Amino acid sequence: MIRLERLSKAYTEGTVRRPVLVGASAEVKEGEWVALLGPSGSGKTTLLNLVGGLDVPDEGVVMVGDRCISALPERERSLYRRTVVGFIFQFLNLLPTLTVRENLLLPTELGGLDPGEAERRCARLLERVGLADRADSFPDVLSGGERQRVAVARALVHEPPLILADEPTGNLDARTGGEVLDLMEELLRESGKTLIIVTHSERVASRADRVLVLDGGVLREREGHGSAS
Ligand SMILES: Nc1ncnc2c1ncn2[C@@H]1O[C@H](COP(=O)(O)OP(=O)(O)OP(=O)(O)O)[C@@H](O)[C@H]1O
Ligand SMILES: [Mg+2]
Repeated sequence: MIRLERLSKAYTEGTVRRPVLVGASAEVKEGEWVALLGPSGSGKTTLLNLVGGLDVPDEGVVMVGDRCISALPERERSLYRRTVVGFIFQFLNLLPTLTVRENLLLPTELGGLDPGEAERRCARLLERVGLADRADSFPDVLSGGERQRVAVARALVHEPPLILADEPTGNLDARTGGEVLDLMEELLRESGKTLIIVTHSERVASRADRVLVLDGGVLREREGHGSAS
């Protein structure tokens, strides 16, 4: 489903050019769960941004299905983001001026979903993530784990086939992180969604079908990963 071919990306700050990706390649099958590991600053978020069409590589190709995302004009890349991808960001990105319910409805409005259907999905998902009674709360009054569950629900509400998660449990204690992960497993596995999940946690990695390690600007498969549980 996803094919990354020799992706290169460098950032320039003033006169300093800092290469981050230098020919990263990988394939991810439909429905697969891939954990993406690598030291801080190795380019994991950069890579997710390329897969999610938030940014384009300097060189190389991002293929998703039969579409070459890295070559799409901005307008079509934006459509791709809104319909194919569900993001769970490293720093959540819940809008503080919108309630939980409104945060959830936003991706459906951007995608042009029928409002009645959007409300039904929103209510169903909030039920599933255990926050049905917090629909009208603002994110800043929620606990970290609750916010994280809202972010999971928001990534799923427009029913995208591909979920990109950037350390979705990074700011949570082990138990709450485990619960969020259980929830993701329940919601994503049952609908066969593809997941790329950035993590520093071996516990998270152990739940994935495969582990890719980003280091020195390239991706390699980590061998010896047991079959998915
Ligand atoms: N917009 C930018 N301008 C300049 N440098 C950037 C920019 N975005 C990222 N970088 C640099 O690129 C490198 C890779 O950043 P990235 O955020 O992809 O790392 P990461 O692997 O996600 O790290 P972490 O685990 O800490 O989140 C870092 O050195 C970072 O400082
Ligand atoms: Mg990052």
